[in-house]
Amino acid sequence: MDRALEKRQVKRAYKFYAPAYDFVFDWIFHPGREQAMRLLDIKRNDHVLEVGIGTGLNLPLYPTHCHITGIDLSEEMLEKAQDKIIELGLNSVTLKVMDATVMDFGDSEFDSAVATYTISAVPDPVGVLREMRRVVKPGGSIVLLNHFRSDRRVVGRLEDLVSPVCTRLGWKSNLPFEPLLKQVGLIPDISTKVNLFNGWRLIKCVNRK
Ligand SMILES: C[S@@+](CC[C@H](N)C(=O)[O-])C[C@H]1O[C@@H](n2cnc3c(N)ncnc32)[C@H](O)[C@@H]1O
Repeated sequence: MDRALEKRQVKRAYKFYAPAYDFVFDWIFHPGREQAMRLLDIKRNDHVLEVGIGTGLNLPLYPTHCHITGIDLSEEMLEKAQDKIIELGLNSVTLKVMDATVMDFGDSEFDSAVATYTISAVPDPVGVLREMRRVVKPGGSIVLLNHFRSDRRVVGRLEDLVSPVCTRLGWKSNLPFEPLLKQVGLIPDISTKVNLFNGWRLIKCVNRK
């Protein structure tokens, strides 16, 4: 499918999800978010990039001593994130409408980057991870929190079966974790399972470049 069309579909899907997103998704995804923030190990004045920040559900979890730039394709999701910035009185967060496969940032601009529940929701996960590597400085952290195809045979097969439906809803149910990271030259330094039924994976990679 052509990339412009895929981008339009993502925008349309998240315009639809934005009003109910926090209500539907926050409770089930929350434990993993807290662990992802801890894994980022943010230092004073660090500049952190959040890719596909969505409605900003991670915003209350960041320490106040860092700078955050959040990007997303969906204006409607970012509007919700902007509401949270105001409610929480945050003054070191910048939001930008941007395609994560073609980021408008220089090389090595960020100390770390994080993407929670985003990698399986983007049309081109390889392109997004390549950009994350490019914009994070050498030795910086890249933290990913996502559902990947299960390594248990029956569950993995089930995820393959439901994948056409999930793709139509806006995410991939059977994104394989190891081949994806290998393709972009990322080696997990930490990899652990989180959330309900340990169904999601939390990964930290040091950006070796
Ligand atoms: C499932 S939501 C996750 C939102 C948020 N990270 C969270 O933890 O709740 C996926 C987000 O990725 C965004 N997205 C999808 N493709 C994108 C792209 N190419 N560039 C930037 N954002 C994208 C969507 O608009 C949506 O807000």
